[in-house]
Amino acid sequence: MVELGVNIDHIATLRQARLTYEPDPAWAAVEAQLGGADVITLHLREDRRHIQDRDLQTVQHACQVGLNLEMAATDEMVEIACALGPHMATLVPEGRQEVTTEGGLDVAGQLSRLKNVTALLREAGICPSAFIDADPDQVRAAADAGFEACEVHTGPYAHAFHAAAGNFRRPDLRQALDRVAQTGSMITALGLRFNAGHALNYANVKPIAALPALEQLHIGHAIVSRALFIGLRAAVTEMKQLINTAAHPYTTSQGP
Ligand code: PXP
Repeated sequence: MVELGVNIDHIATLRQARLTYEPDPAWAAVEAQLGGADVITLHLREDRRHIQDRDLQTVQHACQVGLNLEMAATDEMVEIACALGPHMATLVPEGRQEVTTEGGLDVAGQLSRLKNVTALLREAGICPSAFIDADPDQVRAAADAGFEACEVHTGPYAHAFHAAAGNFRRPDLRQALDRVAQTGSMITALGLRFNAGHALNYANVKPIAALPALEQLHIGHAIVSRALFIGLRAAVTEMKQLINTAAHPYTTSQGP
């Protein structure tokens, strides 16, 4: 069964908008778990725009499931991760001006530095994961650098899905999905865990959730958006149901 990691950064975004104490990401972590989340994800950004250092402890304390810390590969973040000890640390590129993570990590371009980072994380008992574009060079580099998992960037697929209004007869959409699938096959062939995420939502998640050997999906914005109307627990449960009933689109009535 594909696991669902719920990113609760946006709960902290709302809190930081008023620089107050609510809504509390630790409460969100509890609600998400009650809805069926298998993993809770936090991104501690260098600029601390949403998650704050103190949230790491309170959320970890509230977690009965896996904790995934998204972070840049900086010395500061590696030190924080090693002291905290989440189950997984997903390394992402970070830009101060970006609204959200914009692209995959260039693992190939900083191999020796990332080898050191993955060694430190592994030593601390943390599974190092790389958030990468669907690019064979990056998969090979991730294996080389000592990552144990890769999270494939599904943003281009989500964009193609939206542009094609979910019509899998459209070659651009099929190509985008096939690229994620082929990258996933390569990841697992190299002995790494295959995760995926970014820009997935209630409309586009099923074809990705049906990919062979996929272990985890990481979803934030869509779930927190839905939670505004039906509550976080129910929003997570709805997403879990979609994931659990996923099927490859080319074998459905939408196919050619
Ligand atoms: N995976 C990674 C590596 C991310 O940076 C993010 C965004 O924080 C997500 C998944 C979740 O993306 P979204 O909020 O679009 O679901």
